[in-house]
Amino acid sequence: MLLQIPRVLDAAQIAAFRARLSGAGWADGKLTAGYQSAQAKHNQQLPENDPVARELGGRVLDALGRSPLFFSAALPRRIYPPLFNRYAGGQSFGLHVDNAIRYDRSGPRSEPVRTDLSATLFLSDPADYDGGELVIQDTYGTQRVKLAAGDLVLYPGNSLHEVTPVTRGERTACFFWMQSLVRDPGQRRELFELDRAIQALTLAAPGHAALVQLTGSYHNLLRRWAEC
Ligand code: NI
Repeated sequence: MLLQIPRVLDAAQIAAFRARLSGAGWADGKLTAGYQSAQAKHNQQLPENDPVARELGGRVLDALGRSPLFFSAALPRRIYPPLFNRYAGGQSFGLHVDNAIRYDRSGPRSEPVRTDLSATLFLSDPADYDGGELVIQDTYGTQRVKLAAGDLVLYPGNSLHEVTPVTRGERTACFFWMQSLVRDPGQRRELFELDRAIQALTLAAPGHAALVQLTGSYHNLLRRWAEC
């Protein structure tokens, strides 16, 4: 399932991010790629321990913490600290699959994060660059994603994907992975659909007695399927 989450960051936040990122310590993206993906990866990235990446990454997570849609769809258990990349001058990232496990070394201990879900938060205005589409091979076919600055796409961590060459301008984005409380994508989707139906019914028929039962069913399924 691909899900777009609009307006994670507003225009003022985007402007502040761009100002901080323009003077940051960009490095070759191959430094953080696995052996195979290094062959396909042509971009720049902020190192994982870069202070600007840590600060802005924290702000992205704060913004997502205020998004019920993100929580409902991802049911996050662990989120790898967000990273930042940029593409210009024909740079691209050819078709690849992300590593299944990433080791989060930002805390006192190295913590494995299973990459159930991937996310890309677009930081550049799509009018400012050509190319740079995120192309994802989903179960429902190939999806081409290029979103407004501040919008985020959530997609399955196990999908083959690529970023097409940026032939004009510059494309800057934030990206990260997360381990979900619910590992199985089918079970996660079922919970998401049920939650959406409950939210719609809460608006359409507030106070209806069946809402209590449905909400109970949601939590009982989550209790059954979640790994904590
Ligand atoms: Ni990737």
